[in-house]
Amino acid sequence: MFGDLKLTSDSPIYRQISHYIRDLIESGALRKGVRLPSTRELSHILKVSRNTVILAYQELQDDSLIENIHGQGAYVSAARAREGRKPVFDWPRRINDYGRKAWELNQTATAWQWRQGMIPFNSLAPDESIFEIEEIKRAFLNRIALEGEKLLNYGDAQGYRPLIEYLKHYLEDKGVDFQGKDLLITSGFTESFSLVMAALTNPGDRVICENPTHNLALDIMKLSGLQVNGVPMREDGIDPDELERALAQPGVKLGFIMPSYHNPTGLVMAPEKRLKVLELFGKYQVPLVEEGFNEELRHSGAHVSPLIALAGSGNGVVCLGSFSKILFPGIRIGWIGGDARLIAYLERIKFYRNIYTSLLDQAVLYEYLQNGRFQQYLKRAKKLYREKYEQALALARQYIPCRRVWGDGGLHLLIELDGIDARQLLADCCADGVLFTPGDIFYTDGSGAGSLRLSVSRVDRWEMEQGFAIIGEAIRRIKNGTGVSDDVGIHQNARPGQ
Ligand SMILES: Cc1ncc(COP(=O)(O)O)c(C=O)c1O
Repeated sequence: MFGDLKLTSDSPIYRQISHYIRDLIESGALRKGVRLPSTRELSHILKVSRNTVILAYQELQDDSLIENIHGQGAYVSAARAREGRKPVFDWPRRINDYGRKAWELNQTATAWQWRQGMIPFNSLAPDESIFEIEEIKRAFLNRIALEGEKLLNYGDAQGYRPLIEYLKHYLEDKGVDFQGKDLLITSGFTESFSLVMAALTNPGDRVICENPTHNLALDIMKLSGLQVNGVPMREDGIDPDELERALAQPGVKLGFIMPSYHNPTGLVMAPEKRLKVLELFGKYQVPLVEEGFNEELRHSGAHVSPLIALAGSGNGVVCLGSFSKILFPGIRIGWIGGDARLIAYLERIKFYRNIYTSLLDQAVLYEYLQNGRFQQYLKRAKKLYREKYEQALALARQYIPCRRVWGDGGLHLLIELDGIDARQLLADCCADGVLFTPGDIFYTDGSGAGSLRLSVSRVDRWEMEQGFAIIGEAIRRIKNGTGVSDDVGIHQNARPGQ
C-alpha cells in the first residue's frame, strides 16, 4: 500500500506523504484503529529520511487523523477518520425474479403471526419430548473418539460411506433392489427434491403431482418455472383415470407422489393402487419421484412397500427419504435412492451447491443408528404419534363441524369445511391463540380455500382439546354471522393444575 506512493519534485516530500495517508484514511482504506508503519519502516519503504516521515506524521497528528501512542506507534485515530465510502444499495430492487418469487411464495404461506402461548397446529415438527439427547451425546463422543480429526475435514460428496451402506441395507430390508442403483446423502427432503428438479427438468416442463401436495415441493416446482399438473385425490388417494389423462399429455417430465401419510391429506396409498400408479408411469415412460418422508412412522393398514421396492429391478422410481420426521429435523439428513447413473449426476450437482452434507452430522447419526437405538426409538415414536392421531381424530369429530376429515394417520389431519373460508377462520382463531395451516397453500390449482391442515405432533391432548374447541366455536360464529372475534387476547382456559 505505502510502496505505491510515487513521490515527485512538485511539492515537499513530507506533504506528499501526509496527503497520501490522509486520502487513505478518508477513503476508508485505512480504518480507525489501524497501526501505521513506524517512521523507520516507512522511511525505508519510501527511501526518504526518517525526519521526513516524522514531519508527515506530525502534520496528520495536528489534523487529528492519527494519534501517537507512546511506545506503541501511530494509529489511525477515531477522531477524524471517516467510516469510508458507504455505498447504499436498494437491495430489494436488485433481487432477480427467482428471489422475488421466493419472497412472494413465503408471504402467502405465512400470512399469520406467531405469538407466545399460541397452540401450534401449523407446525409439523416432531415432538421434542421423545428426542434422545443423552444417546445423541454418547453417539457424538463415541464417533469422535473412533475417527477423530477426520470428521472435521472434507468428506466424500456422495456421503459418509458407513451411513450410505447402513441406509442401503435398511432399504433392502424394505424390499428395494439395489442392483444398478445407488444412494446419495443429502441435507433432507428439501435439498433432495431441488437436486432432482435441477437435474431432470427445464423451466416450462410439465410435472405431475397429487392435488393437494406438499406445499414446499409445490413452491420449489413453481420456483423452478415448472408447469404443475395436479391430479385430484379421492378418498383412497390419487384418481388413476385422471392420472392417466395427465400422463398422456405431451411434455410431462416427471411425477411426484407421496404414497404414505401424504401431506396434507394423511392418506396411505393401498398396495393395489401403488401397483396401478407404477404401471401407468411405466406405460407413459415418465420417471416417478417418490417422497417417503413418513414411511417409517406408518402405523395403520397392512404392510405396504415403497414404490421403489415394488418397481423391483426397474429404475423408473427415485425415492427421497428424510430423517426430519422419523428422528430430528435439526440434523438435516436425507437421501436419494435410484439408478446409479442418475445418482452420479445428482452428486455432481450437489457438489457444486454445497460440496456435501456435514460429515460430522452424518457420522453422529450413523453412530446413533447402528447402535440399535433407532428401532426402539421408532417403536416409541410410532406409538406416540398413533395415540396423538387417534385423539385428534376423536376430538375433531367432537368439536369441529365440517364436511370431511381426511387421513389414515400420521402427524396431521386435513379438515374440509362446509362452505367456510379457512383464511377467514384462521384470522378468527389467531385472535384466540390458535394457529393452523390454511389448505389453499397445498393446492396446485388455487382451490382448497375451504380446507385446513391441523398438525398435532407438537401439542398434547389438553392443547388439542382447547384448540379444536376454539376452532369449532369460531366456525359456529362465522356460520351464524356473528363475525370475526376482534379481540387479540389468548382465550384458552388454564391448564388443569396451573
Ligand atoms: C411432505 C414432507 N416431506 C418432507 C418434509 C421434511 O423436509 P426436510 O427433510 O427437508 O426437513 C416435510 C416437512 O414438513 C414434509 O411435510
